[in-house]
Amino acid sequence: MVASEAVPFAKSGGLADVVGALPAALARQGEEVAVIMPRYRSIPWHETESAFDNMVVYAGATPYRVDLRTQVHRGVRFFFVEAPYFFDREGLYNHHGTDYLDNHKRFAVLALAALGAAQTVFPCDILHCHDWQAALVPVYKMDQQHSNPLLTNTKTILTIHNLGYQGRFHRTQFPELGLNWGWFTADKLEYYGDVNFLKGGMVTADWLTTVSPTYAREIQTPEGGFGLDGVLRSRSDALTGILNGVDYEEWNPETDPFLPAHYSARDLSGKRICKKALLEEFGLDAANLDRPLIGIVSRFAPQKGFDLIAGIRHFFEETDAQLVVLGSGERRYVQMFEEWHRWRPRQIGVWVGYNNPLAHRIEAGADLFLMPSLYEPCGLNQIYSLRYGTVPVVRAVGGLDDTIQEDTGFKFHEYSVGALYDTLRLAAGAYRNRDAWTERMRRGMSKDYSWDASARQYSSLYAKLLGRG
Ligand code: ADP
Ligand code: GLC
Repeated sequence: MVASEAVPFAKSGGLADVVGALPAALARQGEEVAVIMPRYRSIPWHETESAFDNMVVYAGATPYRVDLRTQVHRGVRFFFVEAPYFFDREGLYNHHGTDYLDNHKRFAVLALAALGAAQTVFPCDILHCHDWQAALVPVYKMDQQHSNPLLTNTKTILTIHNLGYQGRFHRTQFPELGLNWGWFTADKLEYYGDVNFLKGGMVTADWLTTVSPTYAREIQTPEGGFGLDGVLRSRSDALTGILNGVDYEEWNPETDPFLPAHYSARDLSGKRICKKALLEEFGLDAANLDRPLIGIVSRFAPQKGFDLIAGIRHFFEETDAQLVVLGSGERRYVQMFEEWHRWRPRQIGVWVGYNNPLAHRIEAGADLFLMPSLYEPCGLNQIYSLRYGTVPVVRAVGGLDDTIQEDTGFKFHEYSVGALYDTLRLAAGAYRNRDAWTERMRRGMSKDYSWDASARQYSSLYAKLLGRG
């Protein structure tokens, strides 16, 4: 597997959760799998060992010297591309919101190093690549396979976690990728005059997957295709949606080390302790625990529906519902929530930044989890919420539609402030009926989205591609 992030080594979003858990689930089913990713500054060099020194990869006229470092984590071998001039930086992709100017070279070198690894330390049948950062792997593989016999029979899969991020670069950067201009055409990497990494992967990979069945359909429509729906339609016979799983070793209210108390569907008493502690942690009014508490854990990006949330401020005037928000990202949303907090400091709490323990405490302490996404390839937080007995309020798109049913959560369809407002009112009203609410919580907690089922689907896809299925 080739990816740019994986838990516990580096994470900016759900991609890292997936790459951190799927390989282990595949290994449990007998697959032999390794992951290759950059060695960022967050990964201590001295905790890794040497796997291969002085590999030279060529992107354009420039030779890049990289080492491969390695470490086994939860039974899975990780290879780390050691290239300090590219990866020993504070951020993964950007510095305080501004993309690194050499991202095209950084992830071209990741792809080339992955192909190098496949010919040295880890010969493999399948190269399974994730998102635009790994999307040049199938491109280079096709480019090199005639001269590198070890790659000829290797199959490539590209998993699209989010079509909103395509890796688009100016055409003047194309020569730095080391591909001849024959690759820069409208049926290959060229896209409205730019270079588009994801498109390159989409047209060259043997198979494409995305992270939910509904999103697989949505991305083939003009509304959901981010300009690439035509390309995806042309590959519809090699495109499947496989729903993500979640790692219940990490997300389990019965054992979660970040919580002040544990609980289960049988004994929910610990959840009230978690709620009280969470309200106190945010400095909110904790006198009456029967007020509904709404939680948000999110990247502050338009994708997540914050433009709708902006329109329902008056909801907090009209009801006694409380709100806790954890997130980071776009300045305008940070300002919005900070303003809300100043407006009602005992009712609305905000924590800006990245904070994994707090994400767990919000999942446990909140009564409702709000995720009104504009689009959502899969979404993991709503699935964590189910297990924590925190009822999701979601927009019925992508993986949200596939994982939340009317009996476990609240869904609305139209992307409008009115639809969100009505649904939230309905949910907050339903919360007052304690018995029905507890039933709803228990139904959600009993749902099983563990990785095994998803990993089996990937395994059968691998077998099929290798002619063994
Ligand atoms: P996306 O990948 O689009 O951001 P997902 O729902 O798939 O959305 O995954 C988001 C992951 O990132 C979850 O594991 C969530 O808990 C975590 N996360 C998001 N924002 C934060 C934050 N500010 N602090 C801690 N964890 C966060
Ligand atoms: C992306 C998507 C999210 C998905 C995650 C993991 O970041 O935005 O919906 O859950 O990838 O596949």
